[in-house]
Amino acid sequence: MDKTKRPKFYVTTPIYYVNDVPHIGHAYTTIIADSLARFHRLCGYDVFFLTGTDEHGQKIEKAAIDKGLKPKELADQVVIRFKDLWRALNVSYDFFIRTTEPFHEIGVQKIFNKLKEKGDIYKGVYQGWYCISDENFLAEDVPLESSGEKICPDCGKKAILVSEECYYFRLSAYQERLLKFYADNPNFVRPAGRMNEVVSFVRQGLKDLSITRTTVKWGIPVPGDPPHTIYVWFDALHNYITGIGYDWNMDHFNRFWPADLHLIGKDILRFHAIFWPAFLMAAELPLPRCVFGHGWWLKDETKMSKSKGNVLDPQIILNTFGPDPLRYFLLREIPIGQDGNFSHEGFLHRVNSDLANDLGNLVQRTLAMIWNYFHGKIETADPENDHDLALKEAFHQLKVKVKEHFEDYAINRALEDIWAFINQLNKYLADNEPWKMASIPEKKGRLARILLQTAKGLWGVAYLLYPVMPASAEKIWKMLGEKRPINSIQFQDLDFSLFSASEPTEKPEPLFPRIALQDFLGVETKKEAKMESQEAWISFDEFKRMDFRVAEVIKAERVPGTDKLLKLEINLGEETRTMIAGVADTYSPEELIGKKIVVIANLKPAIIRGIESQAMLLAAEVGGKAIIPFFDRDVPAGAKVK
Ligand code: MSP
Repeated sequence: MDKTKRPKFYVTTPIYYVNDVPHIGHAYTTIIADSLARFHRLCGYDVFFLTGTDEHGQKIEKAAIDKGLKPKELADQVVIRFKDLWRALNVSYDFFIRTTEPFHEIGVQKIFNKLKEKGDIYKGVYQGWYCISDENFLAEDVPLESSGEKICPDCGKKAILVSEECYYFRLSAYQERLLKFYADNPNFVRPAGRMNEVVSFVRQGLKDLSITRTTVKWGIPVPGDPPHTIYVWFDALHNYITGIGYDWNMDHFNRFWPADLHLIGKDILRFHAIFWPAFLMAAELPLPRCVFGHGWWLKDETKMSKSKGNVLDPQIILNTFGPDPLRYFLLREIPIGQDGNFSHEGFLHRVNSDLANDLGNLVQRTLAMIWNYFHGKIETADPENDHDLALKEAFHQLKVKVKEHFEDYAINRALEDIWAFINQLNKYLADNEPWKMASIPEKKGRLARILLQTAKGLWGVAYLLYPVMPASAEKIWKMLGEKRPINSIQFQDLDFSLFSASEPTEKPEPLFPRIALQDFLGVETKKEAKMESQEAWISFDEFKRMDFRVAEVIKAERVPGTDKLLKLEINLGEETRTMIAGVADTYSPEELIGKKIVVIANLKPAIIRGIESQAMLLAAEVGGKAIIPFFDRDVPAGAKVK
């Protein structure tokens, strides 16, 4: 169908600061957006999914100085980390915007000029307390400390006193229009409780907003008045329009604006629910349909954030489990509006019980029976009896509920209902006891029907799980012999009749690795311990305990379902070992075969992606990529390196 005739769905994430690498909190927002984008694509929407990076402002300037880099150099490095993570998590964004790109800078300057010409931006003098960490001025009622300073109530850091000539945005003029807009659009801010917070804040009175700085150099210059730099939030919020073509592809912009959903963390609600609509009103552009402020992931009951030093690196989980368990856990564990506490125990428990046991086992058992009793393919089966029809009807009801939940952004409830159906499938098998029929020839047709109906159920479950677990969903379809890609079937057409199991199925194999807590925490603890001791000296004796060896790579292959991992077989002189190396985005398997590398041979083995890794290679980490040192003359495999 002509794209422009389809309904559209435009979803955004915040653009992330590049002062540090991404963590689980950033991954959370992006995974929600990705699942909603995928769901809407299945429903036939013309979807645009925008994410990106916020690269200007004092915070980035300062982080760059600390690292001895120019701000743009820092941004270029960190952007690679974000893009790598989104690739590893299967994030299907349509465009990645960087606020340092010229088309964005020009768009922001044009809007600035337009508002200035209208009188919504004017020049004045600002004096106030500024929090660099949050890139935000403190409210005037924040009390002075006995030291004469002010502390940011949001992050607890010292604010600085700033006094400067600046441009103001006439926010006060929009107070009544904003209140009317909220009253007319009660679902503009979700969850509902957050709408109340916004309304009461605006009711207390809005002051004009200072939107330029002369003290900050790293930003978009005010057109025609270069000592002034546009405030990072004024700059950043406009990514939502420049990222879809504002001022450079107006057809595309008009197709997708206004946004259907701005997904954000609750920490940045005011910027999105008050400033942003006011800027848009001033620019005479339509307002977004919904701003959803989700909760925070906490570690040890405090918000995970770089400044608190308690962030969790998603890469560790991804290396062991691949993307889907993390996607599933984050979306299943808490409703989108609430906070959640991240623990490795909680994560592992969910993965082992829901994914490995409930779903993975069911797929494996079903395929095993199809292979044992029908050589992998069901040719004919008895007609459906009442039990089979009840299962089909339950699936039909599930599909309706899942759609409602996704449309209500209640992904955790959709997953709960899908799991209730998976349990129903497990019960259907247990009640019908197909294994007892295998040896009775006249029950063959019934046996075929039971397995066929279960396979249809799993086929349907995989489809419904696709927005949350795209890789596993495709894998289940492939295992069931389904050749079509999932997104070739529209949500409204989904029905048991579309799947007949007439193609050969694949031999059963575990869908999700089952990993013991000790093995998983072993990997974690090693990483944490390594990080903690990075700065500390080690003694010569400690160094001597490390057994570095020359190893020759005999075999190399990709670890299925990962972008980064290679499985290597190495010769250590007197023995061969298997190891996993995170180098696949720098080296192809062919390139490494025959090469001599350095490994640490006495590191405790770790299970990575279900494979025991019995050594670790040494490599330099540059811009998120591993570069392996090679020898400049021949050395025998097994030689000690010291
Ligand atoms: N650059 C601004 C946003 C500009 S949007 C026009 C910013 N960036 S940020 O890097 O600090 O990321 C903010 C977003 O990351 C939060 O709003 C939230 O979506 C996500 N999270 C960061 N830490 C988080 C948790 N601990 N838990 C959940 N999400 C959090 O603010």
